[in-house]
Amino acid sequence: MDKKSQKKRHIIIVSNRLPFILKKTSDGNIEIGKGAGGLVTAMAAVLKNRNGIWVGWPGYIQETDSDGSMLPVIQSAASGYSVKPVMLNSYELQNYYEGFSNSILWPLFHDFTDKCMFLPEYWKSYKEVNKKFALTVYQNAEDSDFLWVHDYQLILVGSQLRKMHIENKIGFFLHIPFPPIDTFARCPWRCELLSAMLEYDLLGFQTIQDKRNFIGCLKKIIQHAEIDERNERDQTVSEVQFVDKLVRIGVFPISIDYKEMFFKAKDNKAGKRVEEVRKNRPDSKILLGVDRLDYTKGIPEKLKAFRRFLILFPKFHKKVHFIQLVVPSRNEISAYANLKLEIEQLVGEINGRFGTSGWLPIQHMFRTLDNDELISLFRTSDIAFIASLKDGMNLVAKEYCACNVDEKGVLILSEFAGAAQQFYKDAILVNPHDIEGTAMAIYRAFTLPLEERMQRMGNLRRNIKNKDVFWWLDSFFNAAFEKDLPTLPLGDEYFPCNFVERMPEKDSVFSLPASV
Ligand code: ADP
Ligand code: F6P
Repeated sequence: MDKKSQKKRHIIIVSNRLPFILKKTSDGNIEIGKGAGGLVTAMAAVLKNRNGIWVGWPGYIQETDSDGSMLPVIQSAASGYSVKPVMLNSYELQNYYEGFSNSILWPLFHDFTDKCMFLPEYWKSYKEVNKKFALTVYQNAEDSDFLWVHDYQLILVGSQLRKMHIENKIGFFLHIPFPPIDTFARCPWRCELLSAMLEYDLLGFQTIQDKRNFIGCLKKIIQHAEIDERNERDQTVSEVQFVDKLVRIGVFPISIDYKEMFFKAKDNKAGKRVEEVRKNRPDSKILLGVDRLDYTKGIPEKLKAFRRFLILFPKFHKKVHFIQLVVPSRNEISAYANLKLEIEQLVGEINGRFGTSGWLPIQHMFRTLDNDELISLFRTSDIAFIASLKDGMNLVAKEYCACNVDEKGVLILSEFAGAAQQFYKDAILVNPHDIEGTAMAIYRAFTLPLEERMQRMGNLRRNIKNKDVFWWLDSFFNAAFEKDLPTLPLGDEYFPCNFVERMPEKDSVFSLPASV
């Protein structure tokens, strides 16, 4: 064995965000907060105590590159890996982050094309910042390291690394959906983005549909991409030959550290908090929503469905509390600021209309909760309510089930979340655009017999336990390193299509009170 192959392979994770956010307080001190989003939740579990490196932005704006005082603080927040921060200045924040990433790729990939602003200066800055991330990787990578780039903010990092003559294996995982050709084709830089993706050794997607969409785009847009049709099967890693490069493409539904969540939820401390939550709402049912502030999450649709539920079923008045947590996100972008106002207006309107002196139907919290608080809310809530209009996976769905230790809870899940392809049999699926149908689903969830609830929740939890974030990591690594093309271990239950044919529920749809 030569010296090179004897070296232990380390992993270098590259993502826009680090798992924490630094802020300078008014008295000049540095404060550390929790980073938002599914990516950091999953990757923090993966990298913990693995001795790898995480390259990312600590959420802090810095106009010059010279401020070394942050480094020890940044490093102290990481457990068992080292951190290489990439600092952004306000121009980059506006054009790369708020611009190309979140006013082009985010809305485009989530099918909100009306929110896309295809400005050339955004593209220019995206290229520059991707190069900046690549340079940090270049300066820290050993020959044997596996480089793993994450998400839509950093699509060009792989091609930038190749330009720097980096020959390491490089993987890319897209945490958000990949759009169909009709949508993707609107992007003026579609060709550049796709050909940059073909510089990776392995491309990972959340669902079979995302992989199909990507291959569909390649076929129409990239002339010299040769797709091996024999391997273009849903449960197998496919291969594409592009010039002299062979790229693997697979489906890897991301997950959570099930065991950690489960044990924390079982813990006595969580039990005590559960009692506190319940004390303020004796004999009432709790419906829980936990989302980042984002127009893709369908929060107004959820509130409207809840309003409809209260209109249809007055017998539930004073017996239901809807707790909706919203973690602040991307607040400089007007679509997000407007959404915040819309949510606040709806909450005010519904509480004003239905509330009484002793009952506030909706409790809305706009902040990041600490882990313990969140876990006890997951454990105690009767229903988790997820109504994304489009979502790569949605880890909240998995977190809720992992924490539901008594297995009596119900998961209401949008069929437009990636998680629906794993959970379509045991969650109550909703089309969030269908307000009436979603209101009926809330009713159904509240009236599901205990035995059926336990059966469904047991299945959901087993599924997540078997396919946790470490299973996801192993599947990705197998696909990157196995010589033969691996079959993806998605399992038979995985639904390889967007929609599940559902007959209307007889007892619900046809027995609506005539007056409503
Ligand atoms: P996304 O990546 O689009 O934000 P996910 O559902 O995959 O969506 O991940 C969201 C993550 O953020 C989850 O780990 C969830 O627990 C966390 N989260 C969401 N809302 C809050 C909140 N108010 N406080 C703390 N954490 C939150
Ligand atoms: O999981 C999707 C994701 O977009 C991540 O890439 C991102 O880190 C997260 O949601 C939160 O968004 P932001 O980093 O813009 O606050």
